[in-house]
Amino acid sequence: MKIAFAKPELPETGSLAVGVMDGRKLGSHAAQVEKLTKGAVNRAIGASRFKGGTEDHLALLAPTGVQAHRVLLFGLGTAQKLDALAAQAIGGRLVAAFNAAGEKEATVLIEAIPGAPLSEAEIAANIAYGAQLRSYRFDKYKTKEKPEQKPSLKRLVIGTAEANAAKKAYDPLEKIGESISFARDLVSEPANVIYPETLAQQAKTLAELGVDVKVLGEAEMKKLGMGALLGVGQGSERESKLVVMRWNGAGDAKAKPIAFVGKGVTFDTGGISIKPAAGMEDMKWDMAGSGVVIGLLRALAARKAKVNAVGVVGLVENMPSGTAQRPGDIVTSMSGQTIEVLNTDAEGRLVLADALWYTQENFKPVAIVDLATLTGAIMVALGQVHAGMFCNDDSFADRLTEAGKATGELLWRMPLGPAYDKLIDSPAADMKNIGGRYGGSITAAQFLQRFVQKGTPWAHLDIAGMAWSDKDAPTVPKGATAYGVRLLDRLVADHYEDK
Ligand code: BES
Ligand code: MN
Ligand code: ZN
Repeated sequence: MKIAFAKPELPETGSLAVGVMDGRKLGSHAAQVEKLTKGAVNRAIGASRFKGGTEDHLALLAPTGVQAHRVLLFGLGTAQKLDALAAQAIGGRLVAAFNAAGEKEATVLIEAIPGAPLSEAEIAANIAYGAQLRSYRFDKYKTKEKPEQKPSLKRLVIGTAEANAAKKAYDPLEKIGESISFARDLVSEPANVIYPETLAQQAKTLAELGVDVKVLGEAEMKKLGMGALLGVGQGSERESKLVVMRWNGAGDAKAKPIAFVGKGVTFDTGGISIKPAAGMEDMKWDMAGSGVVIGLLRALAARKAKVNAVGVVGLVENMPSGTAQRPGDIVTSMSGQTIEVLNTDAEGRLVLADALWYTQENFKPVAIVDLATLTGAIMVALGQVHAGMFCNDDSFADRLTEAGKATGELLWRMPLGPAYDKLIDSPAADMKNIGGRYGGSITAAQFLQRFVQKGTPWAHLDIAGMAWSDKDAPTVPKGATAYGVRLLDRLVADHYEDK
């Protein structure tokens, strides 16, 4: 789908969408259509439940007086509540409505809204952004779809008197959106296509945008002593990889970076502690944390963010085989700490242990965020609404929570503490990789914290419930969500970029 900005003119073909405020108050464009159609707009509203709320749509088909074959009235809600997220949701819903109607081409007319927190240009840009995000579709393996089964909308024109300013405001958003699509593609690909080597190759494409990308193989990781990560991958035919991405956009090239670390288990069978067959296919997205870190670095580079940022992803395939790690094995991590692997399905924390340590040793970052589809238990606790956040620094946690609210990628802070930490003490090694029956997300986070050096603000985001969605949301079609790209891009923009 193509998005264009133009003057606010009535289209000669396709659909015309005009906004109506809450309380059935026609905007100036809707009022113009009301006149041209000799009252059809208000008659249609009067005959329906349309109120002008942000979820309200009402289509007038083939009205006389305008050339468009369809006029779609869409609700803008109340002016005070029309913020960036609301505008994005409106844009997303418009795309869904046009596709449902089989429309090929549509023009949305925007105007200034007195009392709204956004300017006309910002409303237009955010409607475009929401439309772009909703139009994502992973369909490369559907070779037999008939045209009528594919999305129909090819072109969306945003008509606004501030077309130039809108285009300018949309530019960085478009780049973030493209990076979200890239991350969604990585997560959606099956595990026979995306495995450590091919995921590393995808990360390498970021070099085109000026990201420095380095890939470590098993021999190099062995030299570094990464026994925890390597143990997870040792049952797989595929070589484990560690990808290190650096974007240096700050004025001071030597300024310490903010770091992002991702779990990249390209397929999680559970290993010898094998998972049940039902639903195991979902474990192709156990690399979502790494996909999001790669997408985030892409977004920062594409919009030339004035920040130094590092992305490190640990890529492994967790397979059962004659060379696989056994329950009870004891491995030595890069930090020197030893781990008794009591359950080979608690593998994400083993991968992150070495990736986190590597990141701190090499970059001394100002702060670290890790993302991981780490535990089923976080889904039991928080469902598919909030990701779990574990953080050793209150002000860092607040920054993340705020960035979550601003982008609609919500976080809920979970506890850490010594009473939980002792649950992973092991009689045989420095720690074991599972706690008891209860608090599974917390003991997983305590495990990670043992690999965080003193004084580094760190947050662990358990995104197991957020990486994939089984229902359409206004700006997130079902499937891979790329949850975290928008959130962390916003965290960087608000707190870590040069002003
Ligand atoms: N990748 C899974 C967690 C997961 C489960 C993500 C379901 C998304 C949906 C992780 O590696 C795992 O298997 N965790 C175990 C930990 C347990 C063995 C302590 C879990 O959550 O059951
Ligand atoms: Mn697992
Ligand atoms: Zn896993």
